[in-house]
Amino acid sequence: MSKLKAGIIGAGQIAETVHIANYQKYPEEVEVTAIVDTIPEKARAIAEKYNIPYYFSSAKKMFEALDLDIASICTPNKFHYENVMLALKNNCNVFCEKPPGIKAKEALEMLNLSKEKNKVLAYNFHHRHSTDVEYMKKSMDSGQLGDIYYGRIKALRRRGIPGWGVFTNKELQGGGPLIDLGVHMLDAALYLAGFPKIKSVSAFSYTKIGNVKNKGTLGEWNPEKFQVEDFLTGYIKFENGSVWNLETSFALNIKEKNTIMNVELFGTEGGMNLADMEIYTEANGELTDIKKAALAAEDKQEKSVRDFINVCKGDKNALITNAEEGYEIQRLVEALYTSAETGKEIEL
Ligand SMILES: NC(=O)c1ccc[n+]([C@@H]2O[C@H](COP(=O)([O-])OP(=O)(O)OC[C@H]3O[C@@H](n4cnc5c(N)ncnc54)[C@H](O)[C@@H]3O)[C@@H](O)[C@H]2O)c1
Repeated sequence: MSKLKAGIIGAGQIAETVHIANYQKYPEEVEVTAIVDTIPEKARAIAEKYNIPYYFSSAKKMFEALDLDIASICTPNKFHYENVMLALKNNCNVFCEKPPGIKAKEALEMLNLSKEKNKVLAYNFHHRHSTDVEYMKKSMDSGQLGDIYYGRIKALRRRGIPGWGVFTNKELQGGGPLIDLGVHMLDAALYLAGFPKIKSVSAFSYTKIGNVKNKGTLGEWNPEKFQVEDFLTGYIKFENGSVWNLETSFALNIKEKNTIMNVELFGTEGGMNLADMEIYTEANGELTDIKKAALAAEDKQEKSVRDFINVCKGDKNALITNAEEGYEIQRLVEALYTSAETGKEIEL
């Protein structure tokens, strides 16, 4: 098979550290052919640094000039939709950064076009690419936890507001910790549980710290430009009767100073804690805890990119967050925000 030619749209930090860095680890299989940024100097600088043959100031110009096999979408969230659609129209397999977009309608249109074009559309939810998630998935699929009826999903920072990029800009990102951090753990939890059908959600969001204070564990930010929630909590009810509690924050006065990213799922036979890699169950008639030994550090982002390449090459077993799953996640995020804004429970 000839090399896959990749075009990268958005020349920011995730493009450089995840997409370009990892595609270039497989030079026999992928060539990073072009880079686009609406700020042409950024595109040129990245092109020069990574020996990328072409750079452009718009994705349209790139697709007019080149025939590509892969497009990586690495722009702020607001521009995912238009670039995914353009890339699919130009017959590319697409690897889009999380979240899929800002609205569920966008994720549905992207899903439909990917089907119509028979192209891969994958979203980079890299947390599900860990050995830990794989281990828990096997445990759950073999019935070790029984029927799941409660979950706790956490993506919490005590005081971790990014001052760089556009993470606090509501128009460009669509929201704060829910759409940026919480969404990762929602993907991991839904994947583990086999994407059960969601019935309704209720959520509550607050902006109490980010618009007042100005520094934290990730450095300083401008409180006057803080336009998103800094904490959101909610309940997700499933048609199978299960209910999950979600807590996600950029800033919340909790004990822990490091980011907490965790999924806990509780079933009739056992419970699991992803961050601690433990299963709480019974054996030989006694309460028993199982702990998976920690292995060497692994690069989930590299595995995520590698799996996307494999799917593009026809491997149906490689793991991606596909367009259907992306749509479900975006529907959930939108419903949580709508519930928080309206104070109402939202049926899905
Ligand atoms: N998977 C992860 O863990 C992870 C981590 C960080 C960011 N992200 C996601 O990656 C995306 C980008 O984040 P980032 O941190 O790299 O942001 P960034 O601000 O560093 O880079 C975004 C770049 O896109 C460019 N851009 C804006 N509009 C454009 C357009 N229409 N066409 C082409 N280029 C455009 C900007 O000029 C900028 O250079 C976001 O969707 C974010 O959610 C994912």
